[in-house]
Amino acid sequence: MIQTMQRIQAIVSHPLFRDSLRKIEELERERIYCKHGLPHVLDVARIASLLAVDRQLDVPRDVIYAAALLHDIGRLQQYETGEDHAAAGIRTAQEILRDTAFDEQEQQAILQAVGKHRKGDAAHVLAQLLCEADDASRMCFACAASDTCYWQEERKNHTIII
Ligand SMILES: [Fe+2]
Ligand SMILES: [Fe+2]
Repeated sequence: MIQTMQRIQAIVSHPLFRDSLRKIEELERERIYCKHGLPHVLDVARIASLLAVDRQLDVPRDVIYAAALLHDIGRLQQYETGEDHAAAGIRTAQEILRDTAFDEQEQQAILQAVGKHRKGDAAHVLAQLLCEADDASRMCFACAASDTCYWQEERKNHTIII
């Protein structure tokens, strides 16, 4: 448990993580659609962890949290240059993960999940978890901007996903 907390703490306190998240939250201050700051990435971490327990998956909890915390970190580049945030996020996530105690194999799995999180990948456990949790986290049923959101009606959550 202590090691688990330390590995996540290295991300949470990382200057690049904090700086990127702060800028994303600043840029999205007036955004009426889904945001991508700390509340969102933590929602995804917790939902993905529940899914992993339900499915009895053998993925360490902190690996799931690392992937979730980092999955939208490329939003900053997307706002700045238009680059897809999943692709851009791999680079930022790589820089951050380098300074953590996640081993090489775990870092690769996290980076692949970040890169694939928009579409998921049935063959990649972590990417699939991340994608499903990302979608489940959205509260379309209570969203004032739902009418003009680009999500297709059938993708929207019309109730709480439990
Ligand atoms: Fe995303
Ligand atoms: Fe997301």
